[in-house]
This record gives sequence, C-alpha cells and structure tokens, in this order.
Amino acid sequence: MTQPAAIPANEEERIARLRMLAILDSDPEVMFDSLTRLAAEIFEVPIALVSFVDTDRQWFKANVGLPGFTETPRDIAFCSHAILETGVMEVKDALLDERFATNPLVTGGPGIRFYAGAPVILSDASRLGTFCVIDRVPRKLSALQRSMLTEMAGAVSHAIEAREITANAKTARIRLEDDLAVIARRTEVLRATIDACPIAVTIADMTLPDATLIYANDAFSQLTGYGRDETLDRNCRFLKGPETSPELSRKLGQAIAAGEQVEVEIVNYRKDGTKFLNRLTLAPIHDKSGKLTAFIGLQSDITFEAQRRDASEQQRAKMAALGRAMGGVAHEINNMLQPVSLLVQDAIDNHFVTPEGAGHLGIVLDCTRNARNIIGDVLAFSRPPSRSGEIHDFSTIFEEILPLAIQALTKHITLSLAMECPPLLIEISRTKFSQILVNLVSNAVSAMGGAGQLTIQLDEDVLESPAQARKAARLRITDTGCGMDATTQERAFEPFFTTKPIGQGTGLGLPLVYALVQETGGFIKLESKPGLGTTITILIPAA
Ligand SMILES: Cc1cc2nc3c(=O)[nH]c(=O)nc-3n(C[C@H](O)[C@H](O)[C@H](O)COP(=O)(O)O)c2cc1C
Repeated sequence: MTQPAAIPANEEERIARLRMLAILDSDPEVMFDSLTRLAAEIFEVPIALVSFVDTDRQWFKANVGLPGFTETPRDIAFCSHAILETGVMEVKDALLDERFATNPLVTGGPGIRFYAGAPVILSDASRLGTFCVIDRVPRKLSALQRSMLTEMAGAVSHAIEAREITANAKTARIRLEDDLAVIARRTEVLRATIDACPIAVTIADMTLPDATLIYANDAFSQLTGYGRDETLDRNCRFLKGPETSPELSRKLGQAIAAGEQVEVEIVNYRKDGTKFLNRLTLAPIHDKSGKLTAFIGLQSDITFEAQRRDASEQQRAKMAALGRAMGGVAHEINNMLQPVSLLVQDAIDNHFVTPEGAGHLGIVLDCTRNARNIIGDVLAFSRPPSRSGEIHDFSTIFEEILPLAIQALTKHITLSLAMECPPLLIEISRTKFSQILVNLVSNAVSAMGGAGQLTIQLDEDVLESPAQARKAARLRITDTGCGMDATTQERAFEPFFTTKPIGQGTGLGLPLVYALVQETGGFIKLESKPGLGTTITILIPAA
C-alpha cells in the first residue's frame, strides 16, 4: 500500500514562496539542465531530476531520463517524502520499502528501484523540492556520493536565488526605465515651454564654479544677440559694460552668494555693443534638502519703458512747478477782476450812463466774466491734488450734474444716454465731478460745431493695476464731431495746447480732466478719428 508523505508544517508559506519565484511550468534553463546531466554522469544513473513539490503534483524543472514526463501526482512522489528530510533520503530498494513497494512508479513505468534525493533548501529555509537521482536497479550511495548529492542540491538552491535576483533586477530596471521615460517626457515639455517663453530665461548651475549658465532660451538670444553656444558654460557677467553700475553688480553678487532673490534694473550690452536697460530678476532654486542648486534669471529690455517713465516724471514735475506759478498769478488777477466786475455792474445798475455807454459797459462785463472763467480754470488746474473725502453713488451724482453740463448743448445736438451702472460708490467731490463732466461735454459740443449726436454711457468696469484689479465706474462720452489727428491726440492732455482760435479756449479743459481723474487713482483714454468723432472714456475706482 503506497503511503503518501506528510504535509510540511509551513506548507502555506512554502507554496507561496514557490509561486513568488514564478518557476513552476517555466521553460528549461541551462543551469539546472547541466547539473542534472552532470549528476546522471557522476552517479551513473539513468534518471536525474530537479523537482519542485507543488500543492497536488511534483513538477520537473530539469529532467534527464524521463522524456515526455513533466510532472507526477504528489501522493505517489518520492520527492514529497524527501523534502521532509534534513539530509539525503535514500531508498536502496523500493520493493523492500513498505512506503514505496506498491507505488505505481515502482510497480509500473518507469520502474523505480533506487531513489536518492537531497532537499533543495533556500537561504530563508523554504524547502521547495529536491535534487534526486533514480535507478531501475537496487543501489547504495557511498558517503562521498551522499555529500556530493547534498552539494548539488545546494547548487540548485543558489541557482534559484540567483535567478530570482536577476528577475528582480530586470523588473527594477524596467520600472526605472519607465520612470525615466516619464521624467524625460516631462522635462521635454518643460524645456519646450521655457524655450518658447517670450521673456528671456537663463539658468545657472550653482554646483559649478562661478555660477555658469547651463541654459538660455531663444528670447535671451534675441534680446542679447548671443547664441546658445556663446552663452552656455559662461557667467552672465559678459553682458556688463562701461556704464553698468558697480553698485548694482555688487548687489547681484551679494544676493547670489546669499542665495536670495533680487531684482535690479541694470545697464547691459548686447553682442553688437548697443546698450539696454535690463530688468533682471534672479531667483534661487533649492533641492528637497534645502541646498541651493541653481539660480533662474529673467531678463527683459525696459529701455523704452524707462525713457517714457522718466519723461512722464519730468513732465509731472514741470507741470507741478508751472501749476504753482500759474496759481499765484491767477489768484492776483482774480483779486483785481472781482472789483472790476462789481464796479461795472454797479455803474450799469445805479449810475446814469448813456445807452451806448451801457452797451460798452455790458461788453466790459462779459469780457470780465470770460476772464474770470479762464482764471477759474487756471486756479482749478493749479490746485495741488487732494482727496475729497466725499463719497457719492456714481449714477446719482451724474444725474445731479448732468443738467449743468448739457446747458452747452445746442438744439441741433441730440443726446443719447445709456445708464447701465449698478449702484457703485466713488470718492470724488461734487465740484471736481462737475468740472470733469462739464469740460468733456463742452469739448464734445464745440467739436461738433453745433450739430451732431452726443452719446453718454455709464456702466461698471474693472480697473487693472499691477497690485490688484478693482471695480470701477466707467463714463464714456462719444461725439460725432471733427475728431483729432494723431498729433492732436498725442498733445490733447498737454496744458495750454488748443486747436481753438485765440480767445476761445485756454487749453486747460482736458488737462484738468486728466489731472482730476488721476487724482482719483483712475484712468482716462482718448480715441478719435478725424472727421468721425471722438470718444473719451474715464474709469474712477470704486471707493
Ligand atoms: C542665472 C543668472 C543670470 C544672470 N543674468 C545677468 C544679466 O542678465 N545681466 C547682468 O548684468 N548680470 C546677470 N547675472 C549676474 C552676473 O552673472 C554676476 O553674477 C553678477 O553681476 C556679479 O558679478 P561679479 O561676480 O562679477 O561680481 C546673472 C546671474 C545669474 C546667476
């Protein structure tokens, strides 16, 4: 009666280990085939096997002498017994061993009489199977042969572990290659993005001596005239020249040494020797451990912007000085005109004058009033800017001032109003708002020469500034008048510039509006086409 072998105590882990190795049903491998062939030679046996004991079968990884066999049922396998032993299990004559005497592998094919198997034990002590030699006649191993069989089973376990290490390394390599492919793809996207960036970008590797550049995009080449090959592996100081400020250079050097962000406007030189004002921002880049690894530099040419900024600062200073001088003069003239108009009015009202004299005095009075209006404009213009502290709803104050402003309309001018502004509070004095509206309407009326269409629109908009975007009230006044050519548009906000005949305008209306809008922190825009008309848009920020 065949006796099936006992099931090892750690069977579950043993089978799990076997599965983990992915060795069952795998293709033949030279290492195992060679060992079995060698064993058959050395032990002079017809059969030698590397066999793994699976749940219900023993499976042959290497097989000499049993062609066509890949496995046998576990309950008749000699190896199921051998994996329970610590050393070699030797069955000298199966017919004389009650465990195997009736075993079909003994009584039938392949007719086993002799079996010797050493367990294959891995370094974690799992017993996966055996390395065994089999004969069809009874035999007995010498002590040397037993020890050789044990050695060969040891070689099989080493081969299994080496095979596992190789497989793991292969998996790790594949994973690494996948990760590298993802990184390469992302890096490529990033590089293409920076390459296409319209602002000049440079990167210096701070682990290299002298912060040499390892990257510069196309915009940098366009800005400086230096190609990539002339830029890389150099410190960016090649852009400096005779007028580059040594203080700013020092400031850059100190920020780089301290690993701090810095922004400067520094004179730099292109490859062709022309200079430009470079707004340069340098920002440090740290790795995960906080170590400074690189600096990124953003460069832009602000030469024209700076020229405009300087010019408008000069203009502002000039205007302030002029305003102060004009204010003084206007005040004095106003003081003199006041008694003149009072006395002329008194002469007309209370003293005998001939009708002709009264007519003359009337003209004097008109002239005095005109002169006082002009002086009023000059005084308003020369007053220093101040916050009004008055808060009004935009549409409400507009409706209150509108009747005053449209007194200037003639009967051939049609007015179209579009008031689409939701309730919105603005900070501006009633006087200043009326100066804005009256001036803009009166300019529009005179541009139309007495006939045309005046459109006034009110709505809500957004005022963009570098610091923030704020809600704003928008007033847009469009006329169908004569319009302005480009030169007139450029000078329209310049004090005393006027296209009206002498005596008909001070040229202070639009500059005054400009100054008042600026005072609110707002914005004014003029659009005009000769012969078609003009639109002036003003934005006043919400309070
Ligand atoms: C990424 C990077 C970009 C730079 N770009 C400029 C630049 O456009 N113009 C410039 O004058 N300096 C630039 N610098 C600074 C100079 O390379 C230099 O470090 C600095 O002027 C200090 O000069 P020094 O080391 O000769 O004292 C850059 C530095 C770095 C790290």
